[in-house]
Amino acid sequence: MRKLKLAMIGGGPGAFIGAVHRIAARMDNLYDIVAGSFSSSAEKSKITAKELGISPDRAYATYQDLINKEKQLPEDVRVDVVCIVTPNHLHFEPAKLALENGFHVILDKPITLALSEAKELKKLQKESGKELLLTHTYTGYPMVKEAKQQIASGALGKIRKVYVEYPQGWLSNAVESKQADWRTDPSKSGIAGAMGDIGTHAFNLAEYVSGLEVNKLCADINTVVPNRRLDDDGAVLLRFNNGASGVLMATQIAAGEENKVKIRAYGEKGGLEWHQEDANSLMMKWLDAPAQIFRTGGSYVSSFASHNTRTPAGHPEGYLEAFANLYRNFALTVLLKKEGKEVPKEYLDFPGVEEGIRGMAFIETVIASGKSDEKWVELTI
Ligand SMILES: NC(=O)c1ccc[n+]([C@@H]2O[C@H](COP(=O)([O-])OP(=O)(O)OC[C@H]3O[C@@H](n4cnc5c(N)ncnc54)[C@H](O)[C@@H]3O)[C@@H](O)[C@H]2O)c1
Repeated sequence: MRKLKLAMIGGGPGAFIGAVHRIAARMDNLYDIVAGSFSSSAEKSKITAKELGISPDRAYATYQDLINKEKQLPEDVRVDVVCIVTPNHLHFEPAKLALENGFHVILDKPITLALSEAKELKKLQKESGKELLLTHTYTGYPMVKEAKQQIASGALGKIRKVYVEYPQGWLSNAVESKQADWRTDPSKSGIAGAMGDIGTHAFNLAEYVSGLEVNKLCADINTVVPNRRLDDDGAVLLRFNNGASGVLMATQIAAGEENKVKIRAYGEKGGLEWHQEDANSLMMKWLDAPAQIFRTGGSYVSSFASHNTRTPAGHPEGYLEAFANLYRNFALTVLLKKEGKEVPKEYLDFPGVEEGIRGMAFIETVIASGKSDEKWVELTI
């Protein structure tokens, strides 16, 4: 099976997630990173290209240049996939241009700045026939996949309650850094701060694991640090389409917390619990039997969990492997489809434009609810 040629937009000197994407892309030897526009500064873009061993003539000054010039290269030379890891306000335009010019797209979350843009990307993706991966990292963990499969199998009975939490502490003060600056600027981050940055991950995790959709919510949204222009803390009551209720918490002012992502879901027969900080364990709890701990690498897990497991049980797998699972499933899907082969369901289990649209609807509804005196606001697409 041949490899995919990847171009990156963003991920220049001092950037955070671009380097993680590159590790994820390389882990399974399914991508070659051959081009990029890594920074808004052409000079800095060249520096990153040099560090990555990318030919200087494929270190582009702008993302428009990248897409227009790559498109003119012969098919066996030009890139297959454009990966976009810029701040949120620079997701839609490059993704649109990439799809319009026939490239597959890997895009970090939130998919766009506005729900209307996300819907436009869906239309463009459909017209282009290209694939789009939205990197909601947590859905790449084997034990998160196991949690989803346990619920889908009916093991817990009808789901009645979902609690999802994403507390961080790094924005507890008025921090100034490359990452904090754009995240607290509405022109670059969008209408939400913490709710867009990490609330969307929590929301996606709740819908992914439960297999349900949120159809209304009631939000308490706060800006705790003085003079900050966007929310840095919030709690949201959720109502799902099967009548289940839930609570979502996302905060960046939980001083001392790192990335303490956690989900619990409860059905009629039992519940489950997963923590990112103990990512290789999934706790299953039963109404009338002792609790069980499912472990990554166990012979009893679902095909979705085992397909996304890389090392024998007991050797810890984490964030980078989860990210690489998204990259691998996406590449395998693109390559098999290209060969006209059937794609196994385990490979197709990666987030895309639909999840992006739901994430944008979450952001817009949560902010509307936070500002409203009404108790509940419907989440509609
Ligand atoms: N999936 C996850 O877990 C996860 C984690 C962190 C960040 N993110 C998302 O990834 C994106 C980037 O976040 P980050 O923390 O890496 O930001 P960052 O500020 O660290 O990096 C952004 C990069 O984009 C570059 N850039 C800005 N304008 C550009 C342009 N016009 N052309 C080319 N490059 C340009 C910057 O120079 C920088 O290199 C955000 O949308 C964020 O929400 C996702």
